[in-house]
Amino acid sequence: MDLLSLARTVKDRVEAPITDALAVAKVVTDPRTPLLLALSTVVVTPLYRAAFLASASGSGVLQCLAVRPCDLDSLVEYLEVPQDRERLRVWLDTGVRLGELDVREGCYRLRSTPAKLLAHAGNDAVAAALEEIMRFHVPALLDAPRMLKEGRRFSLGDQDGTVIARSSLALQGMVQEAIDRHLERATPVRLLEIGCGTGAYVRHAARLNPRLTALAVDLQPEVALRAAANMAEWGLTGRVETRQGDLRTLELQPQFDLVTLHNNIYYFPEAERVEVLERARSFLAPGGRLLLTSSCQGGGNAGLDVLNLWFEYADFGGPLPREDELVAQLEKAGFTDVRAAGIVPTQPFRVFVATNGADGADGTNGTPIQA
Ligand SMILES: C[S@@+](CC[C@H](N)C(=O)[O-])C[C@H]1O[C@@H](n2cnc3c(N)ncnc32)[C@H](O)[C@@H]1O
Repeated sequence: MDLLSLARTVKDRVEAPITDALAVAKVVTDPRTPLLLALSTVVVTPLYRAAFLASASGSGVLQCLAVRPCDLDSLVEYLEVPQDRERLRVWLDTGVRLGELDVREGCYRLRSTPAKLLAHAGNDAVAAALEEIMRFHVPALLDAPRMLKEGRRFSLGDQDGTVIARSSLALQGMVQEAIDRHLERATPVRLLEIGCGTGAYVRHAARLNPRLTALAVDLQPEVALRAAANMAEWGLTGRVETRQGDLRTLELQPQFDLVTLHNNIYYFPEAERVEVLERARSFLAPGGRLLLTSSCQGGGNAGLDVLNLWFEYADFGGPLPREDELVAQLEKAGFTDVRAAGIVPTQPFRVFVATNGADGADGTNGTPIQA
């Protein structure tokens, strides 16, 4: 090496760290850097983690890993994706880097506390609620302005009915308390449950009153099928008939002592609610009662605000009800002795009870409305 080359090399070696330090200083002092870092830590990473947990739970991977640690090939087999081994590995390794999974000696296992808790069968409603949030609530927040511009609305097909039916059970404690308070136990009861979801509340009522028989109806075929399978599993097929059907077109005699609508009044547009409630009343025997439970507007609950947003942007439903408005709609639908009450003081969850009295507001005297 000549002297000139040697001098150049020495100069480069000395200058490189200086240049690196300058570059680092430039990046660090960029006014956007703190914002990016804060967003990444406080907003983006938790969102990624939630999305990973939702998909790992929805695909059954969390539940699979809760039984035993699994290597990549076992998970390929479990998910039936033999053609996509490498891409599955990339997804699992992302879960490892997000801190939800761990990998040791080639076997994946659950690492974070949320991952372990969500894998528990007893927490299925919470796991489904997380999936509902990530799959349906996030797109509502994300796409609202674009949907307005495009004149697009969510439809019932945009929901996964079986996920919603499971996530709805996050309200189980409050709905069951409402049933406990209002179900007649001393005499046989004929119950009609509209929008039965999993059928869990029909089962609860059937346990409370052994002489209760029921018709459980749900609009979505896959949900009704699942409910029917649950009834069979719970040994209730002799007492509960399960049907796919739409409240708005059901043809039934006024034969029921109790009609229940749990967590679904917002599946009907506001302008149609009186008619829907009249229809529910038409299935009640004189003196029969309606028990309706629903989350209502207000209460500062972000989850309910976004649920409300989703239904405002749907082409079939409407906003969550307001307590006083729903009471007025029930009265307009001909119910008497309409009452509304809360269960947990801080929760905007309300229980509405109303009677198919002797004199309906429409003068039908409690007889069925003609379709
Ligand atoms: C949020 S889920 C609630 C399920 C269940 N009641 C619960 O609380 O767990 C609402 C259910 O109402 C059903 N539903 C909506 N509109 C309906 C209609 N017109 N007739 C019958 N069921 C309906 C949906 O298919 C869905 O399964």
